Amino acid sequence: MVRADQARRLSRDDIPVARRSRPQRRQASGGSRLLWVCLMVFSASIAAMLLGPRLLAGFEPSVPIRGIKERPAADGRLLGHFPYREASIQDLISVQPGLQLHFDAAEALRSMQDAAAADGVALSLLSGFRSIDLQERIFFDVKSERNQTAAERAKVSAPPGYSEHSTGYAIDLGDADSPEHNLSVDFDTTRAFRWLQDHAASYHFALSFPPGNPQGVTYEPWHWRFEGSAPALQQFESARQLLENR
Ligand code: DAL
Ligand code: ZN
Repeated sequence: MVRADQARRLSRDDIPVARRSRPQRRQASGGSRLLWVCLMVFSASIAAMLLGPRLLAGFEPSVPIRGIKERPAADGRLLGHFPYREASIQDLISVQPGLQLHFDAAEALRSMQDAAAADGVALSLLSGFRSIDLQERIFFDVKSERNQTAAERAKVSAPPGYSEHSTGYAIDLGDADSPEHNLSVDFDTTRAFRWLQDHAASYHFALSFPPGNPQGVTYEPWHWRFEGSAPALQQFESARQLLENR
């Protein structure tokens, strides 16, 4: 009778010597190693091209602006303002004659206006999306009319390419019952402003430039930005953090 260990040995001995050991791995030749390196570099370049813009979303590399001698700081800010890309035309919808917003901000604003109206407060929309071209005219034309330096002008207006309004997420609000306070610091004495202080966060709107903000922009009680979606939050993350850590 053949015992189990003998059977094991016998069956092993049945395997031809040439097949008993695993085939040896062939050493990569210099040529194939080079091919691997090239493949890896190529794949990394493709990944960087595809992912790079996503990683940089919300932060545009800053370039000098014609007519402004100051240069962007290390964090991308120019004269205190963060850089912002212009909203894509397909993301904008008309909310009233001459005024457009990103559709997410438009929907939130409509809900907020309805809720305010139910409380007897009339929120009026004074400004929404502004193209970079329009921001350029607003910045430089008024700067010239008022004989201001770029730094003086930047305290109340963002340079082109640096306005939250160009994202389609920023709104300037007024109180339709007290229009005399529109776009003035006195807006913070209106019922509309007090209502916004109590309720705007429910609709994901935040005051961008409170008194003493670290961006150095003059207090703007009328200017609110929508932070109610991942893309909107991403756009404003640097500004939000700066405000939070002041
Ligand atoms: N007034 C704000 C700062 C703007 O121009 O975007
Ligand atoms: Zn504004």
